Amino acid sequence: MADSTPAAHLIRAVAISGSPSRESRSRLLLVHAVGRLVAAGAETRILDLSDIPADDLLGRTRSSSIAAALSEVDAADVLIVGTPVYRAAYSGLLKVFFDLLTPDALSQKVAIVVATGAGPGHQLAIDHALRPLLASVGALVVSTGVYGIDSQFGADGPDPTLIARLERAVAEALVLAGALSSPDVIPAVSHPSR
Ligand SMILES: Cc1cc2nc3c(=O)[nH]c(=O)nc-3n(C[C@H](O)[C@H](O)[C@H](O)COP(=O)(O)O)c2cc1C
Repeated sequence: MADSTPAAHLIRAVAISGSPSRESRSRLLLVHAVGRLVAAGAETRILDLSDIPADDLLGRTRSSSIAAALSEVDAADVLIVGTPVYRAAYSGLLKVFFDLLTPDALSQKVAIVVATGAGPGHQLAIDHALRPLLASVGALVVSTGVYGIDSQFGADGPDPTLIARLERAVAEALVLAGALSSPDVIPAVSHPSR
């Protein structure tokens, strides 16, 4: 007899790194989040915005690099958005990429926000900069935001409290993504203006 059990929805997760640094702390947190998502059975990808040509990011050209990046984001169920804090907000690299998205580009998608800064003073960049950025393109952002400071990164990687917070954010994202995979949980909302 044929198995009539519906196939479990494969979660596709894309981590977007907004750091231009080759040895990025925020990217390290994305790598850990991706590891947890892989362990949970998700298909994952890390998108390094610094690898995309600047003219693409400024909307002047549309090479295969930016086209592939946008289509990966479009196909994702979960996005993990990571950035260094620059001047009390997210990096310009992250901003120009988000400027390319339409107002409902991330509707029906779950997002985790991750940032690192030199110290605790700009922790609110998570709530005052990253959450509104994600909301402006329709994403459903999990309640746990992840903010790390440079001293929390040692030779062994991020400290355990930071990893624990990241794992909580990933667990929340998996719950939300599972719920969203049921049809019509959230009606599609169209945004009339930018
Ligand atoms: C141009 C620039 C601006 C920065 N501005 C801030 C800031 O406003 N607040 C802060 O806490 N750290 C600031 N930093 C420090 C970085 O946010 C911090 O070192 C971060 O962990 C780097 O992340 P990354 O390794 O992923 O690039 C700044 C660093 C640079 C290079």
